Amino acid sequence: MSQDRLKRDAAHAALEWVEHDSIIGVGTGSTVEAFISALAESRRQVEGAVSSSEATSKRLREIGIRVLDLNHTGDIDVYIDGADEFDPHRRLIKGGGGALTREKIVAEAARTFVCMVDESKRVGVLGAFPLPVEVIPMARSLVARKLVGLGGRPEWREGLTTDNGNLVIDVHQLDLVDPVTMERALNDIPGVVCNGLFAIRPANIVLCAAPGGVDTIR
Ligand code: 5RP
Repeated sequence: MSQDRLKRDAAHAALEWVEHDSIIGVGTGSTVEAFISALAESRRQVEGAVSSSEATSKRLREIGIRVLDLNHTGDIDVYIDGADEFDPHRRLIKGGGGALTREKIVAEAARTFVCMVDESKRVGVLGAFPLPVEVIPMARSLVARKLVGLGGRPEWREGLTTDNGNLVIDVHQLDLVDPVTMERALNDIPGVVCNGLFAIRPANIVLCAAPGGVDTIR
């Protein structure tokens, strides 16, 4: 079964978490695109959505969903997004699409974070996928040196400017056996806006699609 098919299965399963007339948070990426298409095809009406990226906002508007400002909505019921990796504790690496900062903000505002993945994203310990770190442009080299000090191998994702006007460094070979401690250590580096570890606030539900069906991991 193709990975795209599995992404669509996970996206369909996520519809169950969308309450009628609610305000939802929506992430970024190809699994989220499948979710937005599934939402459009379903009869589910939502009051509006808080979006995690300009790309997602555009897609939401195309299907007639109002994009709302988080400053006006307050906390939201559910945040629906994909991930690059997840571990048995529902901790994640995100940011493959470069939208990690807004994704983390919307996830933090949500009572329930539902993460849609296909089984290729399942790992025992996070870290095979290089960890995205969003940085203020003037701090790029400084942050890269600090990342080397933490044991990582930083690689600037050249050509990418985030929706917030910043840069992304992908960090290889970081030891993420204790992802909460690493998430905090990365947050402490001046010039780091956000990092792609979602360990302090993990997903509440992971919907993991495999050829045999969608597993709900709580
Ligand atoms: C974007 C993300 C995505 O959720 C992550 O990269 C997974 O993407 P996809 O659904 O395309 O596999 O964090 O910043």
